[in-house]
Amino acid sequence: MIKSTADIRRAFFEFFQRHGHQWVASSSLVPADDPTLLFTNAGMNQFKDVFLGSDKRSYTRAVSAQRCVRAGGKHNDLENVGYTARHHTFFEMLGNFSFGDYFKAEAIAFAWQFLTEELGLPKDKLLVTVYSEDDEAYDIWAKQIGVPEEKIIRISTSDNFWSMGDTGPCGPCSEIFYDHGEHIWGGPPGSPEEDGDRFIEIWNLVFMQFNRQADGEMLPLPKPSIDTGMGLERISAIMQNVHSNYEIDLFDALIKAAAEIVGSQDLNDKSLRVIADHIRSCGFLICDGVMPSNEGRGYVLRRIIRRAIRHGYKLGADDVFFYKLVGALCEQMGEAYPELLEQRPVIEKVLRVEEEQFSRTLERGMQILNDALEQLDGDVVPGDIVFKLYDTYGFPADLTNDVAREKGFMIDQQGFEAAMAEQRKRAQQASQFGVDYNAQLSTENASSFSGYEHEAGLANVVELFDQNGSVDALSDGDSGMVILDESPFYAESGGQVGDTGTLKVGNGEFIVQDTVKMGNAIAHRGLVRGDIQVGDKAQAAIDAERRAAIKLNHSATHLLHAALKQILGDHVSQKGSLVDPDKLRFDFSHFEAVTPQQLLSIENLVNEQVRANHDLQTRLMNIEQAKAEGAMALFGEKYDDEVRVVSMGPFSMELCGGTHVKRTGDIGLFKIVSESGIASGVRRIEAITGAAALAYVQQQNNTLSAIAQQLKTDPVKVTERLQQVLEQFKGLEKEVSGLKQAMASQAGNDLLSNVQDIKGTKVLVAKLDGVESKALRGMMDDLKNQLGSGVIMLGLADGDKVSLIAGVTKDMTDKVKAGELVNFVAAQVGGKGGGRPDMAQAGGSQPDALPDALASVNQWLTDKL
Ligand code: ALA
Repeated sequence: MIKSTADIRRAFFEFFQRHGHQWVASSSLVPADDPTLLFTNAGMNQFKDVFLGSDKRSYTRAVSAQRCVRAGGKHNDLENVGYTARHHTFFEMLGNFSFGDYFKAEAIAFAWQFLTEELGLPKDKLLVTVYSEDDEAYDIWAKQIGVPEEKIIRISTSDNFWSMGDTGPCGPCSEIFYDHGEHIWGGPPGSPEEDGDRFIEIWNLVFMQFNRQADGEMLPLPKPSIDTGMGLERISAIMQNVHSNYEIDLFDALIKAAAEIVGSQDLNDKSLRVIADHIRSCGFLICDGVMPSNEGRGYVLRRIIRRAIRHGYKLGADDVFFYKLVGALCEQMGEAYPELLEQRPVIEKVLRVEEEQFSRTLERGMQILNDALEQLDGDVVPGDIVFKLYDTYGFPADLTNDVAREKGFMIDQQGFEAAMAEQRKRAQQASQFGVDYNAQLSTENASSFSGYEHEAGLANVVELFDQNGSVDALSDGDSGMVILDESPFYAESGGQVGDTGTLKVGNGEFIVQDTVKMGNAIAHRGLVRGDIQVGDKAQAAIDAERRAAIKLNHSATHLLHAALKQILGDHVSQKGSLVDPDKLRFDFSHFEAVTPQQLLSIENLVNEQVRANHDLQTRLMNIEQAKAEGAMALFGEKYDDEVRVVSMGPFSMELCGGTHVKRTGDIGLFKIVSESGIASGVRRIEAITGAAALAYVQQQNNTLSAIAQQLKTDPVKVTERLQQVLEQFKGLEKEVSGLKQAMASQAGNDLLSNVQDIKGTKVLVAKLDGVESKALRGMMDDLKNQLGSGVIMLGLADGDKVSLIAGVTKDMTDKVKAGELVNFVAAQVGGKGGGRPDMAQAGGSQPDALPDALASVNQWLTDKL
């Protein structure tokens, strides 16, 4: 009997393999080379190019179980999860495919046979839909399969025309529905009650025939093909005789695990379903290399994680919990997806770090939202509150919506988007502040770069600019830009700063302060001495010493990049870099601080490669070839067809247009000086090389020697000696505080001799000297104990500050309140205070008035007692 999710998956593979289909593994959730798609959302995605005819495979029939995410993009189910029996952010799609092999008749026959014979579903429980114009499919169902006509429904809407996205393969489809029985409300597809849960679509057979263009035009595919998709969770629900997907074996296990982890009793709670659903999408997204971030895929992931966390806290989770479900996920799905087991530690770590970060603001944000909901007039949460929660507390709008919806509110999505647009505008304006006028200039000219081989060279001045645009000449004292037909100056790009130097022109000179790219030209920016005209000859020379320092840092950056990947893992990718003569700075994706131990290993590895003294090689090649050889390229960066590949021995190979050392040994020494986080999931390392690194080490050494000298020991023993000194210091601190206490209690004893009797109550009023105001409370406690019953008022003048404390033993507080007493005195010394009936403190600013103020206490008390 085929029942479990795993059995069904296996039976599906076996059935289609028996019918000549090649089993193909699920592809990643991150679609390869397909910018039109946010996440893999159907089994056919990995075959898109095969359908289009631009990719050929050794097989024409395939079968797969594809992991899919429908959260963001054309197919988005995120907000339905938890509210329906069948929506998921993550699900598995079973599919069989024909690439120009069989078409409608066989596809329909295979599906029918699998459902009714392999799985043994009763035929009278099934009904089907076809696209209204598709008579061919209608006839196949009616005549070949023998489905009664009342169970074949023609649908004219887009429901029966499937497209992957706005562009790409598409075609009419035929869907198979299962009737869950009369006891559940709902009507057949196409009827007014179709949204009910009685008739559930289980399998979609797409007859792929067209390639939809961006302008809507439908081009025929090279050959009619087949793409089918059956939700594994839905068919499992049927086979396991349950109505909701969330009751199948796999979800049952995840829900139980979640309940145990958050300590929840009610297994039917909607929040448990949300968590069980979300751990699947989050686990697999991270497995496929997506990291939580504030844009694109990473942001969708972050939204799902945060939604799950919120539901966990709602259930009473009181600690970081979400990552603890990865184990249960691996148990349920690791066998079918071994990559999940491999990535388990990474997934756990990423989820833990993300939750730790978010839980810090979650509570505060929830409070703000709840307050806002309470005070709300009407049922729409204003956009500015949604925005504030997003901006300050990291609440994605759909999370706010989720909370609001539970309480019967909606959010003003438009208002939120307007607030977001406003913020983007502000950010843009801020970044334009101080914009360089040169960025607005343009030139048609092109310059060739001679700086890989040369530091100087003769060239022609082909164009000049002042602040307003192109000019024929620049004169003494002007600042502007010079374009040469050929230049050894490196124009800022790829993180490497522009060169500086001089252009000698006739008897004038142009001091180059920076070099930037301007279209295809190299623009030298700087200051004129003498006169320059278009057409002049220029002797260009870069500041060679500065360039030499830049080179060391640039080559070291490549070594660092490769070392990071080796030590931290393949998820490390470059997020930005800056290479200047003083240092290098490298930003990269990584989800937690790099440990000191790892930093040491990275530094050691880079220095090893420096000492290996690899020859640095540069080659020009085709981009495809470069990628095939494994050159590191920046994701999302646009490269020309021909690229420059820089390699250092077998250790590093990167696409790069920058200037580099001849041999890695030239770098001399590589020293990391800092590691820090600059955004969530992005770390920054700063490092130095060559003479700067040596100077840094020497400087540290000098500091160490100076410390050693002061501690009267030698550098190797500094830590030991410092430890001793600190211990001594702690001992002294303890001694001093003991002495202070002893003095205070001595003072207290002395004070007791001043106790007087007012109407049978013991009263002590005293002005103290040489006592720290911090010690007052302790003293008051002691005095009250020693007095047993009575009223105490103490005052202390220290410089221009007055400190007051009043104490009343518990048995007396119905007659005298410490707060009133202290305020009575405080009012006379320019202050006020407060506290409990038995103890109250106050400050004041008129020390001179203190003696009289204290003297007035006796009369005040006489009146009270
Ligand atoms: N690609 C089709 C779907 O996703 C099978 O429904």
